[in-house]
Amino acid sequence: MRRPIFAANWKLHKNRGEAAAYVRELLPRVAGMDGVEIVLAPPFTALDAVATALAGSAVALAAQNVHPAASGAFTGEVAPGMLADLGCRFAIVGHSERRALFGETDAGVASKAAALLAAGLRPIVCIGETLEQRDADQTFDVLRTQLAGSLAGLPRNRARDLVLAYEPVWAIGTGRSATPEMAQEAHAFVRECLVAQFGEAGAEIQIQYGGSVKPENAAALMAQPDIDGALVGGAGLEAESFSKIIHFEAQEGSS
Ligand code: PGA
Repeated sequence: MRRPIFAANWKLHKNRGEAAAYVRELLPRVAGMDGVEIVLAPPFTALDAVATALAGSAVALAAQNVHPAASGAFTGEVAPGMLADLGCRFAIVGHSERRALFGETDAGVASKAAALLAAGLRPIVCIGETLEQRDADQTFDVLRTQLAGSLAGLPRNRARDLVLAYEPVWAIGTGRSATPEMAQEAHAFVRECLVAQFGEAGAEIQIQYGGSVKPENAAALMAQPDIDGALVGGAGLEAESFSKIIHFEAQEGSS
């Protein structure tokens, strides 16, 4: 049984005070929700403040990126062990913004994911096609290639610690979400690839949908059999809308 996992990716938003205020607003709204995993991914600079504000709660902390090395001459980078020391249990790797704007490759994503697993953190590995690729009917090829590269060499016995996030690039920050059917089709394909690579354990890996998830469309997306939660950008910046997504308080059918 896969538990839904909801992560708010704050991207380049919120200072420490804003981050702590968000947590104070979120926690009472999600108290006692044992059936789901809830994750906050603030910028590096707010990780410590969020960790302090989350103390004693079941909400988990995530980083938005990581460097694969444990230490060394890598100016400006942050190691998996440093994230663990701050209380992070997850880190996002391979987000499409990092792939498009910062040159992140599938091989780079795989080495980050491996380093996270080795340090006891769970990677949230992002994949997804661009609009051009979808229009050219290349979605499955792109997903297959990204999965093969981004998960290359990861130990089979750690498959259950992985989280995948299917995020069609054309749906991110655009207000234009994939339809539930379109998302399910992609998730089912991702699931097949995961089972092919990891065997039975592949069926237990949580696959989040990401791309313009909001309270109004969350319920219809989450009703799909292979959608196990969401990676939320814009609507994750407010505790109220993020908690509504977690509660699936949505009017099905609206977009
Ligand atoms: P969005 O972002 O919810 O604002 O579309 C999703 C993401 O980038 O993970």
